[in-house]
Amino acid sequence: MDSTASGWLARSVCMWYALTWRRVADPSHSPVAQYAMSDSTLVTPGEKIAIACDHAGLDLKSALKDDLCEMGFAVLDLGVNLPESVDYPDFGRAVAEAICNGEARAGVAICGTGIGISIAANRYPEIRAALVHDAFTARLAREHNNANVIALGARAIGIEVARDCIRIFFETLYLGGRHQRRVRKLSLDSNGQEF
Ligand code: RB5
Repeated sequence: MDSTASGWLARSVCMWYALTWRRVADPSHSPVAQYAMSDSTLVTPGEKIAIACDHAGLDLKSALKDDLCEMGFAVLDLGVNLPESVDYPDFGRAVAEAICNGEARAGVAICGTGIGISIAANRYPEIRAALVHDAFTARLAREHNNANVIALGARAIGIEVARDCIRIFFETLYLGGRHQRRVRKLSLDSNGQEF
């Protein structure tokens, strides 16, 4: 064997060894984490995203609906569709229930600050609603928290920033691995038990 071929063989063996060892040593390659990784794409084109807002989020909701459709998602609009004052908890709950009963795969929740509607959605153990303000928080909400609802404050951020957030949120994959243990803990009840 000439030196080029033996060098190539040595490099291949090292590479194989490194990849195999990584599978054994890295918890992100355990069966549990593999399950988490397979869930890493939140919504694929054609799947449904529930969207709802209170009166403060009406204009932003209609802009974001267009963006979601352009991205290839089906949109389930749960209101509100009139400018009269309504209660944001009703709309946070509507988004959460659509996800819990399988009508939608993920959600967008909008109120004036994004705070009230995210609190309402997060009353459900299956929901991880992230109040997002910019590209950085939109990306990390997916990568680290596996958030399945993005909450936005229509009076807190501009429309273009909100559009950026939506695009990044739905394009970013959950990283799984070390985050999976923490994300699981988010769904425990106040006694630390599974619901
Ligand atoms: C409505 O005025 C406002 O309180 C609501 O949109 C939201 O900001 C609540 O968190």
